[in-house]
Amino acid sequence: MAELEQRESWGSRWGLILAAAGNAVGIGNLLRFPAQAAQNGGGAFMIPYVVSLLLFGLPMMWIAWTIGRFGGRFGHGSTPGMFDRMWRHPAAKYLGVIGIALPLLFCLYYTYIESWCLGYAWFSLSGDYLSTAGRAVHLRTYLDEFLGNTTTTSYFPGFNAAITFAVITVLLNVWILYRGVAKGIELLAKIAMPALFLFCLVLVVRMFTLGEGRGSIWDGLQFLWTPDFGMLSTPKVWVAAAGQIFFTLSVGFGSLECYASYLRDNDDVALSGLTTVAANEFVEVIFGSLIAIPACALFFGADQVPEIAASGSFSIGMVAMPEVLRSFPGLEFFGTIWFLLLFFAAFTSSVGVAQPVMAFFEDEAKLPRPAAAMIVGLMWILGTIPILFFYRYGALDELDFWAGTLGLVVFALIESVLFAWIFGLRRGWDELHLGALIRVPRVFRLVMKYVTPALLAVIFCWWFVDAIAQDLLVPRPRVSYAVADVASFRGHFARGPALAPAEPAPGGDARSADQYRTAVAAQVEAVEHDLFGWAEAEIAADGRLRIRSFSADPTLLQVLDAAALERWLALEGFHYEPSDAERQAPAGAASRPVRLQLEAWNRAPYIWLVRIVMLGVIFAFLIIPHAIWKRRARLRREEIGAAAGPAGAEVPS
Ligand code: PHE
Repeated sequence: MAELEQRESWGSRWGLILAAAGNAVGIGNLLRFPAQAAQNGGGAFMIPYVVSLLLFGLPMMWIAWTIGRFGGRFGHGSTPGMFDRMWRHPAAKYLGVIGIALPLLFCLYYTYIESWCLGYAWFSLSGDYLSTAGRAVHLRTYLDEFLGNTTTTSYFPGFNAAITFAVITVLLNVWILYRGVAKGIELLAKIAMPALFLFCLVLVVRMFTLGEGRGSIWDGLQFLWTPDFGMLSTPKVWVAAAGQIFFTLSVGFGSLECYASYLRDNDDVALSGLTTVAANEFVEVIFGSLIAIPACALFFGADQVPEIAASGSFSIGMVAMPEVLRSFPGLEFFGTIWFLLLFFAAFTSSVGVAQPVMAFFEDEAKLPRPAAAMIVGLMWILGTIPILFFYRYGALDELDFWAGTLGLVVFALIESVLFAWIFGLRRGWDELHLGALIRVPRVFRLVMKYVTPALLAVIFCWWFVDAIAQDLLVPRPRVSYAVADVASFRGHFARGPALAPAEPAPGGDARSADQYRTAVAAQVEAVEHDLFGWAEAEIAADGRLRIRSFSADPTLLQVLDAAALERWLALEGFHYEPSDAERQAPAGAASRPVRLQLEAWNRAPYIWLVRIVMLGVIFAFLIIPHAIWKRRARLRREEIGAAAGPAGAEVPS
């Protein structure tokens, strides 16, 4: 009872609903959803999407809320304690550890993305990427330099800006956690969620009043919603839909369980779970499809949209959208609104995903909240360092794969089996309906017991087999090239369809673009360190680059010389697009020298380091419950011993 009184609780029912909706609504809704839908069959994606919603999303949401409230009854806000109560087996708490390691790992990279949104909100407000001395900022390079993804320094001298925004974002998150559930998370949701809704409305109205660009809003909607039923026979599309449902609803992370643990015993979970799903789907399907893709279609034209959509969430959000927004009046206002929208969406999610870790230290290690917040903050800052500094080596994607893709499927599988088979579906069903404001249709009993766990197992196997088939487990070098001084050009460098290679390279070099990349990567693997090359080039009349000289590490020169580089660039369609002014006086741009940097990053050691850190986090979290539960058992034994003491004294010796 004492435990119960000490634990925090939500201030109001509305506050809880807003907080849960805030947890679910995030970057996944506004960027990941349109990118996934566009890449996986457009309108046809909605079929596996809705099926996944019914077979995994809703059942897992109810399971999470039920497990959470059940655990909260015994004073547990994180899954080690919850699972231990559900399954009286020594292994239960160790399985539950995944429900704190996973959110911790997830929030490390999620908050980094969140910090980009904050940074870009600031850059929009200050008009930073509007133009530099009348020259349009190249937004791809701007993003790459901001994140330290390249060594060129046209716009950012280093990545101090990224570090600053990352630190601010982590501190803001820790501050909210420190303030607690009602005064921190709930209050944040009460402010951020209405603001988020308003921002969405403002942007939708803006998009629909932009007039005509190279295309129209309708082209975007048509692209997003025209079904390509042929895609439905591809397993990838189904797995992508299931992955999106997990990500967007925040199920399979141990996060909503924690929110539900702050409920009272008779508070409803059935309707609350359903409301969370409904709110999330509303934002995702309506706003997620009405803003980014239509805006890109309007500005870039229908023919460009497939390529933009295929370039992924970050390109849509941080490259294409700023391009659209700065091309119409009011970048400072609408650009700031767009990035604040993303930031708020992410902020209300990241506090939610870190709260289980807080709860673990508070409930199990019995630390006071400020101490728990300090530990979590410290782990957060330390954990962010490798992601920040090794971003260029793919650290973020690596975490996204293990924590944000594979891990959550594993955890959801454990959770669903535990709920339906070990805790027992009948008990679970009663627990779900305790104080419920709605009755869940009975068909979900079948779904929870058989369908959800079985399909989760299938998806898990698929991810794994696919990762092995695609050779994702062995980190390969990343090869890229960039123009060192893009800021001094009025036009843009871009890739396009292959330009016919110039005269064949000496020695009859007939390699394909991929073969050039592979050859460079193989050299990196041979010497086991990053390799760089620098080329002096000139822009030809048709926009392609003529390499005048190429200097590089000798190992690199063994597989690539100036002629080969020129051919490779032409094969990849790399060219210069003059600005309108230059087009009128073409001679102006033609003879400009260009400095090109070739960068080949040796990813393996950094990726392995990230993997070791991940294992370290899991291992550390395995040890803590071990120690805590052992201590508890000892204390219990001592209590029993003490109680037995006086009685024993009565026995005549
Ligand atoms: N649901 C969030 C989004 O859509 C991501 C998230 C996952 C947040 C898990 C918290 C926990 O972006």
